[in-house]
Amino acid sequence: MSKITIAIDGYSSTGKSTIARQLAKTLGYIYVDSGAMYRAVTLYALQAELIRDGQLDKEELIESLPSIFLHFTFNPKKGFAEVYLNNKNVESDIRNLEVSKYVSLVAEIPEVRRKLVAIQQEMGKNKGVVMDGRDIGTVVFPEADLKLFLNAAPHIRATRRYKELLERGDEVTFEEVLQNVELRDRIDSTREASPLKQAEDAIVIDNTDMGLKEQFERVLNLTNRVIDQKKKDA
Ligand code: CDP
Repeated sequence: MSKITIAIDGYSSTGKSTIARQLAKTLGYIYVDSGAMYRAVTLYALQAELIRDGQLDKEELIESLPSIFLHFTFNPKKGFAEVYLNNKNVESDIRNLEVSKYVSLVAEIPEVRRKLVAIQQEMGKNKGVVMDGRDIGTVVFPEADLKLFLNAAPHIRATRRYKELLERGDEVTFEEVLQNVELRDRIDSTREASPLKQAEDAIVIDNTDMGLKEQFERVLNLTNRVIDQKKKDA
């Protein structure tokens, strides 16, 4: 089989999910948004009032992990799989700034990571998967056939995310969004458990000045080269 595993990592709001969705659609692969899973656990923590006065009760969240059930279901109208928390579709509820504020605190808990990484590895075990996140090329699929690492200037990333949130109808300021993007980058890159870092064999794509079309063509080119090589090796 020439199906491959594609790992896309990078800083927040670098357009990982956009490129991952485009690739999965073109190749007929499964797309897994690993960040959606960390966001869904964060939503659980908020709803269960495990975050009080801005403080996350880590012990209680760890104890609650067995009652957190996550799954994805493909939505043909949207063209991608949406995340469900305990059988409720939470795709839209996890994208707000409130969840973004706390998600990096949830994601630094090793027990949370262990649970989610196991689910992610199971989802990708038959290859033919594009997964995006922070530790996909380093921890989840260190043997991935193609690893990309996305980056862009913080102002550009915050502008993109700010526009997305405004389109959803959320009331946010550009400053808040920029601060959140920078704070998450800092926590994600410096945490002890599986920090965000570029895998040695990852290809870096800085899309500060790159349009979506150009980026997609470049990435598809890289992907086809890897698939062709795999066919030759088979
Ligand atoms: O889309 P955005 O760049 O805002 O982030 P996301 O992919 O939705 O991920 C949200 C947060 O989840 C990140 O800031 C990380 O704290 C965490 N995360 C992680 O630790 N590991 C992953 N594989 C994916 C996300």
